[in-house]
Amino acid sequence: MITEESVREVIDTARVEDVVGDFVNLRRRGNNYSGLCPFHNEKTPSFNVNPARNIYKCFGCGVGGDPVKFLMELEQLSFPDAIRWIARKYNIKLEEKEVSQEVREELQEKESLIITNDFARSFYADQLFNTEEGKSVGLSYFRSRGFRKEVLETFDLGFAPDDRDKLRKAAIAAGHKEEQLEKLGLVRNGRDFFRDRVMFTIHNLGGKPIAFAGRILKKDAKAPKYVNSPESEIYHKSDVLYGMYQARQAVRKEDRMYMVEGYTDVISLHQNGIRNVVATSGTSLTDGQAALVKRFTDNVTLLYDGDKAGVKAALRGVDVLLTSDLNVRVVLLPDGHDPDSYLQAVGATAFSDYLISASKDFLYFKADLLLEEAGDDVSRRTKAIRDIGATLALVEDPLKRAGYLQQFSGRLGIEESLLVNLVNTAIADRRTQSRKTREREERKAQRDRKKTSGPSAPPAPNEDDAWEGLVEPGWVSGTADDNPDPGNLPETDAPLAKQTPAPILGHGFQEKYLLHLLVRDGHKLYDDSSSTSIATYLTTNVADLLGDFDSDAYRELLQTVIAYLKNHQSAPAPDWYSNHEDIRWKELSVDAVATPYTYSPNWREKYGLHLSQKMPEENHRLTAEIFLRIFRMEKIERKCRQNAALVARYEKEGNFSKLKTHLKVQMKLDEMRLDLARALGTVVLSR
Ligand code: UTP
Ligand code: MN
Repeated sequence: MITEESVREVIDTARVEDVVGDFVNLRRRGNNYSGLCPFHNEKTPSFNVNPARNIYKCFGCGVGGDPVKFLMELEQLSFPDAIRWIARKYNIKLEEKEVSQEVREELQEKESLIITNDFARSFYADQLFNTEEGKSVGLSYFRSRGFRKEVLETFDLGFAPDDRDKLRKAAIAAGHKEEQLEKLGLVRNGRDFFRDRVMFTIHNLGGKPIAFAGRILKKDAKAPKYVNSPESEIYHKSDVLYGMYQARQAVRKEDRMYMVEGYTDVISLHQNGIRNVVATSGTSLTDGQAALVKRFTDNVTLLYDGDKAGVKAALRGVDVLLTSDLNVRVVLLPDGHDPDSYLQAVGATAFSDYLISASKDFLYFKADLLLEEAGDDVSRRTKAIRDIGATLALVEDPLKRAGYLQQFSGRLGIEESLLVNLVNTAIADRRTQSRKTREREERKAQRDRKKTSGPSAPPAPNEDDAWEGLVEPGWVSGTADDNPDPGNLPETDAPLAKQTPAPILGHGFQEKYLLHLLVRDGHKLYDDSSSTSIATYLTTNVADLLGDFDSDAYRELLQTVIAYLKNHQSAPAPDWYSNHEDIRWKELSVDAVATPYTYSPNWREKYGLHLSQKMPEENHRLTAEIFLRIFRMEKIERKCRQNAALVARYEKEGNFSKLKTHLKVQMKLDEMRLDLARALGTVVLSR
């Protein structure tokens, strides 16, 4: 059974346009989307999706509901299965009850910690509203900051009295365990931890209290302004953004999240109608926090103080957001102001206007800042441009990156190709770094495991095994030329060639090169720490593409290697090929030795940026990896074109069920393409 909290989290996360978008090709219409209804046959779209209300509705057949209902109806899923489907989509870890005894105990432990925290929350609220001390100290402080009663309640604000152990005594009297109070950091060495402070409650996505922060009221140079709950089983600081629970609906509605530093900024903005706001709590952003943002929106605006420290803060930690493929904008507030104080100073309307007029794309913001600092100094300028290149390299989406590159070369007044090189170098550096880290981790894991158990499966550059399911029987068989064989396609009066715009080149050369690689490097080890050979690596990762080979001969030859690998411990050595009874292998091995390591001239043009470095002859592993990715990319791109032609045709013919299938295929293909492009670091992608 999935826990109530998990279900709630899933429902809160699911975005109707995302979920429906997985099945229906949606077009933007103002604030809404429309598309062809998947529940009935139609030629003009009457199916509508409303992101603000998170619902869909078909004006043709009348169906409608939320994302969960959509899945239950369309895919005929049960409620829990629909929840699981969405959880997978958004990478939400579901908490399931009734698993093992151990897990159950852990869940109970978490639940009981939350119950104790909830006691503390109500205790602090009670102190604030119902005690003399609370009212005169805490409440009047919040009033002085202009916080009204509703936000005090919305954010569960409270007051911790100046008392040795008032909370502890009350909690124990109410049946809470001392051990739990200690674990939660509410009590330390028998004394209350939070004393004489106004209290801020930190909630999880389900609105439950998982931690607290207490702000000092006295001006005390020695004591910290805020003290916070420690990490616990229910509070992982790096995965939490303050105010997320209160902001989540507005974030979804506005499709944007404002990030500020302080708790009080969140509350103040919320009170003034800007509810899509969370606080980073003054620290650098983490991957976990970026992932949290990503579940609700792709658009983030950082709101920082305009002074030096604020600018530094804005620059710090933004890398995390960029690598998570978020669109980041920055608003710098006039010097000396934080969001709360500026809002108080100019009023809500002017403040909202300012958010719009002063907001800058983060990358431009950074570029302007660095260039301004560098002035006319050539060497500082060079360094600035290098820095900008490194930041650009963090933009994961190749298409987005290409857009920036174009704009930046104009802005910086340098050749685009120069900038492209800079960025590619930075990408390569980053890849090397992360590969080294990964390898180090793998080695460590291997050491930990100690005993090895047989050859491990080669890492696939694209773990997608959905490919087979995508191919309709007889749709694409290995034809000698690149145009889809009309015999394999449903009849139509329009010849397909007319619908396929660009001339397509054959893949014969690439397929041959794959065999060259096998002959030359196949027997070498792909991975020193396991017994995986280059041959195993290559064949495993093209097995799903055999049907798309242009050359029957090359496919057949490849299959003999696959068969060999099945029956032998190690890959065939070079002389296996040169002594092979099939004369074609002999020819190939002569050919392979005679051909220098090089990529197809065709590829060089298309992926030139990536291949601009010398062919890494000494590194057969890298050669195989790069080759394989491009090889797969080429096949996938071709499939995209073929599929797009089919989509266009079925759309025209009004063949709805076929259209639906091929739209799904298209989305899957696009996804694979993007994954591969990411892995390749391709800057420019042609379609
Ligand atoms: P600020 O000093 O800007 O605090 O720190 P603030 O929230 O604006 O508080 P006011 O307006 O002075 O009342 C920004 C954030 O940094 C974290 C808190 O999350 C705070 O909201 N912080 C700051 C701490 O955790 N500990 C500290 O001692 C100071
Ligand atoms: Mn402040």
